[in-house]
Amino acid sequence: MFRFFSRPSVLLGTLLFCTILPITISIARLVQLPTGTLPPDSLRIAAAPLSLFLHALSGASFGILGPVQFSRSLRRKFGIWHKRLGWVYCVAGLGLGLSGLSILVNIQSISSAPLDTFRGIAGAALCYALISAIAAARARDIQEHRAWMIRAYAIGMGSGTIAFVYLPIFLITQAPPSGGLYDLVFIVWWSLNVVFAEWVVRRTTPARRMITQ
Ligand code: HEM
Repeated sequence: MFRFFSRPSVLLGTLLFCTILPITISIARLVQLPTGTLPPDSLRIAAAPLSLFLHALSGASFGILGPVQFSRSLRRKFGIWHKRLGWVYCVAGLGLGLSGLSILVNIQSISSAPLDTFRGIAGAALCYALISAIAAARARDIQEHRAWMIRAYAIGMGSGTIAFVYLPIFLITQAPPSGGLYDLVFIVWWSLNVVFAEWVVRRTTPARRMITQ
């Protein structure tokens, strides 16, 4: 199964399918914010316009670059580009985490305290995962580098995939899902993305050989 999903076209397609909604919304916000055409629901977040702009820009870049960076055959074919785009990916990821934290402290939240706390932890964890991935790459520990990059992608994009749960609810109820119960669903869903990533890391990382002397 992993061999099938590691094909570049399948990997790119699957990850882009899972993240297409948050990426599209981010690109829309990048146009709407400077042109003053934000939807009424987002005006509250526009109280921190620079943070929102950077958040949308870094979110879209991080989401698009992730699948490209993860594809083994693209990495082998365009090795030097993996390195260059890797820096762009890390800057975008750090920007995503930090701008998320900035939005959190600068806007009036309508979410519950547990969800906002979880967002804060996720923003910090994303930065930690990316810094660990960079440190591992510099130490030439490629397995560790790959593992932290997969974790970072799941932490960052995990929030966006909630669209798969919320969209059907919205279509059925004709009202945006909000309130403590939906916030709990959000936390559980986001966590499941991270657990899934950890499973992928463990399932695909060969056991290290023990050095006995
Ligand atoms: C660690 C990851 C993330 C954190 C901590 C975070 C944090 C936040 C926070 C606190 C808000 C305001 C929520 C509200 O009060 O309604 C927000 C909104 C937003 N986020 Fe994120 N976010 C993360 C990941 C992402 C990703 C991966 C994307 C896109 C690919 C993204 C795109 C957006 C957009 C477009 C908005 C504005 C939504 C609107 O206008 O209604 N975020 N984010």
